[in-house]
Amino acid sequence: MKIAVGSDHAGLPAKKQVVETLRLAGHEVLDLGTHTEDSVDYPDYALAVAKHILTGEAELGVLCCGTGLGMSMTANRHRGVRAALVYDEETARLAREHNDANVLALGGRFLDPDRAERILEIWLQTPFQGGRHDRRIRKIDSPQG
Ligand code: RB5
Repeated sequence: MKIAVGSDHAGLPAKKQVVETLRLAGHEVLDLGTHTEDSVDYPDYALAVAKHILTGEAELGVLCCGTGLGMSMTANRHRGVRAALVYDEETARLAREHNDANVLALGGRFLDPDRAERILEIWLQTPFQGGRHDRRIRKIDSPQG
């Protein structure tokens, strides 16, 4: 799969791990930065990953910042992006089964590397259940008002 990955400085170590794990698993990784520890603004990287999802340049995205909060907030401003902030294995599974999350947001400062790896693997391997969940996720993106 083609997977776009982005982080700010706080999420950089987690992103490095994600990139390595994905490449080892045979995925094509588009690493959209950041690439140094210099302080940067997380919305710039969330926007870059969201754009790749919406244009079809990537099928899935992974965003890492300190908490995952700012990344998920920003990514979810883009209709068609369903970013899930995930801290454990169970929500990783449900983010796919029920929400068909196409972006995974990770809080690099609060996840140990083993857990981050398990979350990533579960999120990648779990299929969307469809059915009633399909109706619900389509309502997320329906025009309001
Ligand atoms: C950066 O210090 C931090 O605010 C950012 O990585 C993220 O946690 C924001 O949501």
